[in-house]
Amino acid sequence: MIATRLHPDKQAAAQAIAREIADLIEIRSKSGKPTVLGLATGSTPLPLYGELIRLHREEKLSFRAVITFNLDEYEGLGPTHPQSYRSFMEENLFRHLDIPKANIHIPDGLTSDAAKHCADYEAAIHAAGGIDLQLLGIGRTGHIGFNEPPSAADSRTRRVHLDELTRRDNSAFFGDLAQVPHGALTMGVATILEARRVELIAFGEAKADIVRRAMKETPSAGCPATWLQQHPRCTFHLDAAAAKAL
Ligand code: F6R
Repeated sequence: MIATRLHPDKQAAAQAIAREIADLIEIRSKSGKPTVLGLATGSTPLPLYGELIRLHREEKLSFRAVITFNLDEYEGLGPTHPQSYRSFMEENLFRHLDIPKANIHIPDGLTSDAAKHCADYEAAIHAAGGIDLQLLGIGRTGHIGFNEPPSAADSRTRRVHLDELTRRDNSAFFGDLAQVPHGALTMGVATILEARRVELIAFGEAKADIVRRAMKETPSAGCPATWLQQHPRCTFHLDAAAAKAL
C-alpha cells in the first residue's frame, strides 16, 4: 500500500520531507543511535538537499551521526568526473554539511570487480543496521535506483544496463547523449524494499503516467517501481502535475 502526499510545489515538498528527516535524526540521536539514509541523485531531490543544507546552516541540524548510502553510480565514471554521482552528491549536499567522510557510501563506478564490490556494499548497509529512510526518484521506465525493467523483487546491488530512455532523459546533465554511460551499479529492488521507510518524490507532468503505473499496476519486474506497493511504509510525494493521472 503506497500512501500519497500532495504538495503545492517543489519547495513545499522539500520542506516537508526535510522536516521528517530532521525529526528522525533528532529522535535517533537522543537515544545515541546513528541515522542511516539512502540517498538519490537526479534533478528531483535538489530542492530537498537545498533545504537540508539550510536546516544545517540556520537551525544547526547536525549530520555528524548520519550514515549515507547512495542508490547508484554510473559505470566507468570516477569520483572526480563532473557527471559522476559522487561529484553530484559532494557538490549538492555533502560539502555543505558536517557529515564525516567515512560515513558516506556511493558505489565505485571504477571498480574492477563489480560482483565483489556490490556484495560488499550490501554488507556495509547491513553492518550499519540497515537503512532507516530511503529517498527515491522515479524514472520514466519505472526504474527506482537504476533498476530498469525487468528487475525482480529479489534483485540485489549489482551491475545493470541502462535503458535508452533513461540515457536520453539523463543526457541533459552530460550535454551529449554519446557521453552517457551504458551501465551502472545500483542497489537492488530487495535492498530498497528492506529500508524501514521509503519516501519517493516525483514532480511534473512527465512523471504522471509512470506514477500511475507504479501505484495501480500489479507488481511486476516490467515496472520495478510497482514493487513499492509491497512495502509497509512507502509514501509518494507528488505535486499536482505528477498526480494528474491518479
Ligand atoms: C538517481 C536514481 C534515479 C532517479 C530517476 C529520476 O540516483 O536512482 O532513479 O531518481 O532517474 O531522475 P530525475 O530526478 O532526474 O527525474
